[in-house]
Amino acid sequence: MRAFMMQTADAPPRLTETARPDPGPGEVRIRVAACGLNFADLLMIAGKYQDTPALPFTLGMEIAGTVEVCGPDVQAPAPGTRVAAFIGAGGLADHAVCDAARCTPLPATMTMIEGAGFQIAYGTSHLALAHRARLQPGETLLVLGAAGGVGLTAVEIGAQMGARVVAVARGAEKLEVARAAGAEVLIDSAAESDLRATFKALGGIDVVYDAVGEPAASAALRALRPEGRFLAIGFAGGEVPRFPANLLLVKNISVLGLYWGGYLRFAPQVLTDSLAELMRWHAEGRLHPHVSHVLPLVRVAEGLDLLKARKATGKVVITMEDPEDQPVR
Ligand SMILES: NC(=O)c1ccc[n+]([C@@H]2O[C@H](COP(=O)([O-])OP(=O)(O)OC[C@H]3O[C@@H](n4cnc5c(N)ncnc54)[C@H](OP(=O)(O)O)[C@@H]3O)[C@@H](O)[C@H]2O)c1
Repeated sequence: MRAFMMQTADAPPRLTETARPDPGPGEVRIRVAACGLNFADLLMIAGKYQDTPALPFTLGMEIAGTVEVCGPDVQAPAPGTRVAAFIGAGGLADHAVCDAARCTPLPATMTMIEGAGFQIAYGTSHLALAHRARLQPGETLLVLGAAGGVGLTAVEIGAQMGARVVAVARGAEKLEVARAAGAEVLIDSAAESDLRATFKALGGIDVVYDAVGEPAASAALRALRPEGRFLAIGFAGGEVPRFPANLLLVKNISVLGLYWGGYLRFAPQVLTDSLAELMRWHAEGRLHPHVSHVLPLVRVAEGLDLLKARKATGKVVITMEDPEDQPVR
């Protein structure tokens, strides 16, 4: 089968022929239809991601596809079931093996392309806003990186939870995507010379969702209301925020870390329950995943370049078939 593999730390990943994997006990093999790209793929290629597998490995953290074969003791999901699965690595390939427990059946309303980019982005924002920050209706939520993979889902889920959402992103096109997802206030980070003053002028923020890092992070922290919550989600801009504890004390502010994948290890049920709720919301027509680019596996490097160059909005999804030859649904 084909797989997009990292062979050594100093060579870029490339499409390679490799053996099709067989499922062991507790596992299933999935015929992959589509794989969502993530900023973390770029970090893995650079050897900077906290959960990078040992070399050689196949990239691709999350997939949608059809169960082909069950391992020895596995009853469900049965062969033929359409599923989404978080697999950490190995998804940019024609076939992938994963824990049966990590498969979530796709609602009939969800396409394979939507399913492939759904779990990490929606899962992260749902756990961050509902489970960690306990966002309340009527509160003001400010999202940094609001048109990116995780940021856009924070806008949509925040609006669904009844918050007034402020979206911060670069350029009118990205802000329009955030507006369509439910943002009420739009701030163009490329056009602002004083983000700190702009955030303060909002009249008080209850929750900051930060997928970007400095310098916007510190400006946002300083605009929080007393008892405000700052969610540290990611550092796509490259600079990790450092906050003085005296500021947190004086303003009664909480800084909350959120690593979605971490829940798999210490509280998998929290993650499973969250995904089940999100799949229900999708089936009810409440969520509208935004995928800016769909590319075939042979063009995966282009997809990663789109993320690196900040040209994508929402998700970039790779399909195993060429969508021009055979549309993937
Ligand atoms: N904590 C978790 O569990 C979790 C889960 C998923 C992702 N993350 C992290 O969240 C961050 C965003 O991930 P994502 O998958 O949403 O990425 P993405 O789709 O590439 O979006 C990142 C956004 O960050 C902004 N950005 C600012 N500086 C950037 C730079 N130098 N390079 C690229 N983008 C930059 C871009 O928006 P503008 O151009 O509008 O500024 C872009 O839309 C990453 O750090 C990722 O590791 C964390």
